[in-house]
Amino acid sequence: MNTLINLPNLILQNRGLILSTEIQTLNRRLERKQAISLIHRLSDSFPEPGEKDHSRKVSIFSIQFYELLGRNPGEIKNASLLHDLGKVYVDQRLLYKPSSLTNEEFAVIQEHPNYARKILEYCIARYGSHELLTSAQRIAEFHHERFDGTGYPNKLGGTEIPEEARIVSILDVFDALISERPYRKAIPAEKVYEIMSKGDGRTKPEHFDPNFLKIFLKNYLKFTELLN
Ligand SMILES: [Fe+2]
Ligand SMILES: [Fe+2]
Repeated sequence: MNTLINLPNLILQNRGLILSTEIQTLNRRLERKQAISLIHRLSDSFPEPGEKDHSRKVSIFSIQFYELLGRNPGEIKNASLLHDLGKVYVDQRLLYKPSSLTNEEFAVIQEHPNYARKILEYCIARYGSHELLTSAQRIAEFHHERFDGTGYPNKLGGTEIPEEARIVSILDVFDALISERPYRKAIPAEKVYEIMSKGDGRTKPEHFDPNFLKIFLKNYLKFTELLN
């Protein structure tokens, strides 16, 4: 599919086009390998190696999680790669700011799930649909929702949040805590376990689906081993 070759450039150069242009829906179905190719091209559009690395790790954790559930991880492995796709629209200076964000700056970052939804809607309309893309869209749009309804962008709660987004949300927070950030060092694994199981000022266990959190915590060592 030659039309996919310049997709990352298209995204980065035509943000007005993607966010505002009406696109004629093709009602086409993509083949699975075309959908996977599109997902990988989109995930290559992250300009920063840090974001690519984060997406790759969340994808690896997702495979482990689905294996623990006894499910085939083929879908989540690819779909979770795009959970932060919307960050391609966020000013990189904000994403990698070495100090705390102002409320206004945080509000800009909080738009990334909406940006991802728009990018994926655009891609589906332009190139055709596939369950991998609609799953990627659900994850990207809802991975910052919280089980207790305090997340964003829509303050959904409980099972209103799509299941795969409830799973990725745990793995996303795990990787964010255990990895070095521009404004702090990596948090040791034992401390991350404590934060996710008991909470701290920012992260609370109530943010997560209790059944999935239980599975994650019970198998915590398996996830930390994947970091090596
Ligand atoms: Fe995110
Ligand atoms: Fe993330």
